[in-house]
Amino acid sequence: MTTTYSVLDLIRAKRGGQTLDSDQIRWLIRAYTDGVVADEQMSAMAMAVFFQGLDDEELSTWTTAMIESGERMSFKGLSRPTVDKHSTGGVGDKITLPLAPLVAACGAAVPQLSGRGLGHTGGTLDKMEAIPGWRADLSHDEMVAQLDTVGAVICAAGPGLAPADKKLYALRDVTGTVESIPLIASSIMSKKIAEGTDSLVLDVKTGSGAFMKTEEDARELARRLVGLGESAGVRTTALLTRMDVPLGYACGNGIEVAESLEVLSGGGPADVVDLTVALARQMVKAAGLDGTDPADVLASGKAMDVWRDMVRAQGGDPDAPLPVAHHSQDVIASEAGVVTGIDAMSVGLAAWRLGAGRARKEDPVQAAAGVMLRVRPGDRVVAGQPLATLLTDTADTISRAEDDLTDAFTVGRPFQPRTIVVDTITA
Ligand code: URA
Repeated sequence: MTTTYSVLDLIRAKRGGQTLDSDQIRWLIRAYTDGVVADEQMSAMAMAVFFQGLDDEELSTWTTAMIESGERMSFKGLSRPTVDKHSTGGVGDKITLPLAPLVAACGAAVPQLSGRGLGHTGGTLDKMEAIPGWRADLSHDEMVAQLDTVGAVICAAGPGLAPADKKLYALRDVTGTVESIPLIASSIMSKKIAEGTDSLVLDVKTGSGAFMKTEEDARELARRLVGLGESAGVRTTALLTRMDVPLGYACGNGIEVAESLEVLSGGGPADVVDLTVALARQMVKAAGLDGTDPADVLASGKAMDVWRDMVRAQGGDPDAPLPVAHHSQDVIASEAGVVTGIDAMSVGLAAWRLGAGRARKEDPVQAAAGVMLRVRPGDRVVAGQPLATLLTDTADTISRAEDDLTDAFTVGRPFQPRTIVVDTITA
């Protein structure tokens, strides 16, 4: 690629709704990664894409250029088929924790490259780091060795994987350009395709606690994610799932590990179990392991055995007690009735405020902080009953977190609960 473009011309073209050609997009992503295009110019381009979008061809080139900005991993030497899962992010979304060992126990290799939380949605690595001794950073060789012996690994993506996305994602985060369907699709799929998994199952969330607030937008995101995966030779399926209400009761780091252990022990909240099994069924099918029902494997205790091996292989102690918060306070119901809604966004914000999340990517998180819900939609409550318990090591965060939850719980008349999975989107 020898042509040099004027980034200003490209920004103006996209701002005006024109289509960028393949050479222009490849140059842009390369020049941004190399520091030739400045952050403020890429911010303007991200905003232009936010408003004007990318068509399917532009999106495919954009994603390929992000993949080519770094290294590509390969798991070809493994004896088991590889299958990964990605969630577009939600509140109380601890599904990766029981899911990865469950699918490994079904016979697949699960290379789960995960991230840390930013804002109101939690991050899988922050949750796992609540386990004493557990480490997120593994070399590629360590990852392959663990996939071979244990079958599942949850770890951080190395700096060489899609570096263009690392830079662009940090920029989008501070410029109000995260919630763009093509930017989200290229960000997720550049990392997943570069990772080299054979197949991928996506959990695309819709609702107040999700990036995509409407079902229509979530469907469009799912369509584009699946299209990118399939055209790169990765078998890709998406489940469209609800994120109006937090998943399960626990929203924090250590408390989500504890809830995941309940699921691996055969218990746990129904929505967490249902979604874990629904995603596991898709992953097992995508890996060509039909005939194994993850629900039976979960009940057998084999997934818990893999979990313990997986934690130990990464330096963690699966028997160590999880951290306990220094301060706690209940949120009390002011009236009697049936819980009809628990706003996921408000609960996510409260958990973040209490110390479970971070405002800047270099901030530390508290392992024990979070919101432990005491009720689920459909539960009958009386006035004075606890709706949630706030947990933190920093007592001065409690009153702001209480404010976040002022209107989070709606109490009304009995209703018909909805299923968590809305639809399955395939190529
Ligand atoms: N997750 C990602 O990896 N990228 C996005 O843009 C949004 C969610």
